[in-house]
Amino acid sequence: MGYPYHVPVMMAEAVDLLNLGPAKIAVDATLGGGSYAREMANRVGSDGTLIALDRDPAAIEASRQLLESALPNIIVRQENFGNLDTVLNEIGISRVDAVMMDLGVSAHQLEDPGYGISFASEGRLDMRMGPDALLSADDLINRWPEAELVGLFKRYGEERWCRRIARRIVESRGRRPIQSAKELSEIVVAAIPPKFRSRRIHPATRIMLAVRAAVNDEEGALTDGLRAAIQRLRASGRLVVIAYHSVEDRIVKTEMNRHSGRCVCEPPVIECHCGKRRAIQILTKKPLAPSQEEIINNPRARSARLRAAERLPD
Ligand SMILES: C[S@@+](CC[C@H](N)C(=O)[O-])C[C@H]1O[C@@H](n2cnc3c(N)ncnc32)[C@H](O)[C@@H]1O
Repeated sequence: MGYPYHVPVMMAEAVDLLNLGPAKIAVDATLGGGSYAREMANRVGSDGTLIALDRDPAAIEASRQLLESALPNIIVRQENFGNLDTVLNEIGISRVDAVMMDLGVSAHQLEDPGYGISFASEGRLDMRMGPDALLSADDLINRWPEAELVGLFKRYGEERWCRRIARRIVESRGRRPIQSAKELSEIVVAAIPPKFRSRRIHPATRIMLAVRAAVNDEEGALTDGLRAAIQRLRASGRLVVIAYHSVEDRIVKTEMNRHSGRCVCEPPVIECHCGKRRAIQILTKKPLAPSQEEIINNPRARSARLRAAERLPD
């Protein structure tokens, strides 16, 4: 495996919160470079079971050998965690003790130009994390109607300049197709008036995240994955999720609230219809953030927000 495939974020805090111990059954839903999985495997020991999933075949290939030699009871699957329910049915496991989701992309996916994800990538505009994604960023950026681009940038990117950006994209692709993430990010930056360009983050960040999220149906997978995880946890089992941007974190917060018995209907609420139920207790009143020291050592950790919950008895 090339080093570093991925520097893990908030690992000590997250794995402690999973409350693992000998003979437990744990799921690492986002295997990546396998650092979390190795630590989880150590904690469940040789009597335990670790189920490790990633939708990216490169992550599976990079980590499988290392993990399979470290733990006899490890099941590694190239799968979208949105299908967690089906995977557990196929393996024949009904309840688990812990589920870990360390969302987003790995450093490997960001840095390898083949994924076409990072701002600097001159490779083909792609952004698919795995072959299960139904469309590529090329399909979306060069074919979606302008109004749909505006809707995506507004909703998922929370981008104030969504109309101008969509217009510039449509104008540019009218001359010739937009070919790379670098080209796309340059068009986005040019569409934002200079005095409104963020100096804190790359000004195209929100748009790039929105495109990546749509390409990989990150919202759908996360909602399905969280619901399956909560349903499959044993009483006192733990769910820990680390999100890297606000829209993703809001989905985690809303699903956790809904399953902790809090109403998540949009106000005004005349009659609750959100399907709230009391299945979990939230352990993190506010999301945990990485320490300053971790951010200095690994700046990519800075946007991480960790939320944890414990399953209540049925
Ligand atoms: C931040 S990295 C995880 C890093 C990992 N914790 C480690 O220790 O190296 C996120 C990983 O989750 C995977 N991923 C993202 N969304 C996924 C999904 N819906 N299903 C399965 N894997 C997913 C990505 O392919 C990537 O490898």
